[in-house]
Amino acid sequence: NWSMETFIDDTITELRDKIGDKRVLCALSGGVDSSVVAALIHRAIGDQLTCMFVDHGLLRKDEADSVVRTFSDHFQMNFIKVDAKERFLSKLVGVTDPEQKRKIIGNEFIRVFEHEVQELGKHHFLGQGTLYTDIIESGTDTAQTIKSHHNVGGLPEDMEMDLVEPLNTLFKDEVRRVGEELGLPKEIVWRQPFPGPGLGIRVIGEVTEEKLMIVRESDAILREEIALAGLEGEVWQYFTALPDFKSVGVMGDIRTYAYTVGIRAVTSIDGMTADWARIPYDVLEKISTRIVNEVDGVNRVVYDITSKPPSTIEWE
Ligand code: XMP
Repeated sequence: NWSMETFIDDTITELRDKIGDKRVLCALSGGVDSSVVAALIHRAIGDQLTCMFVDHGLLRKDEADSVVRTFSDHFQMNFIKVDAKERFLSKLVGVTDPEQKRKIIGNEFIRVFEHEVQELGKHHFLGQGTLYTDIIESGTDTAQTIKSHHNVGGLPEDMEMDLVEPLNTLFKDEVRRVGEELGLPKEIVWRQPFPGPGLGIRVIGEVTEEKLMIVRESDAILREEIALAGLEGEVWQYFTALPDFKSVGVMGDIRTYAYTVGIRAVTSIDGMTADWARIPYDVLEKISTRIVNEVDGVNRVVYDITSKPPSTIEWE
């Protein structure tokens, strides 16, 4: 007979048994999953937990600052921010294959942790926000791999820490309920999902600073307009992606040859299936106009009207 309180109590007991007096390092992204994991582990073992936030240069606009702010306001946890932007971006130069990008980013994360662990002193466990959904979609012996999800795929074989994944039996909506029960702030609990590989999989093809800037700026406009229209609660996930092509346009009387931005917005319960969100045309028009006017290098905006399946939510 599953309930939220017994889940939390049981998990805390299990975590204490498993961890003992050892130390845990948690990869905190500021998203729902990793925040709930951190809060849960923190409740179980307090100061034995250190949370690490890695800025891989693939975050949304202002994201790094806001995560640092939120966590220093709301938590009294051991907290470290690592600036690893150069490391990630240099590894991604010339790489265009989505799975390869995912694996590189996932691997680099673990390398960064291992490096920081050496600086910090030995941590025996790595706490991760792997959900039940991540495990299904990354494939098991019996299921076929759709995408190697960041939390599951690409772990180096020589990784020296054992994993603690207390959410790996839960779906997203259950994780949010656990978060609320643990008293996490609303802006964290109701934050839309953001993939571990970040904007690295929203820039289609090779990741460059220029393309990252376009995704970051257009995404910020989209988020602003969705909030202004009061649609935040209705649309489950919304973001922009940058397909790797240019097309012809005209601005003023001048021919342009520039990038197309794709808007993706879906309704969903758990991300396993999703329907494209019926955002009102006037809201879409405002978003499109603002993106073309305000983001350099863009002359066209398209709206993704496919559901999952047959598409996936992310474009890579
Ligand atoms: P897809 O694109 O597979 O996405 O339909 C389903 C949900 O999962 C998120 N997603 C990820 N989350 N690591 C994560 O933690 C990942 O590597 C990853 N890839 C996709 C995606 O944003 C959507 O909410």
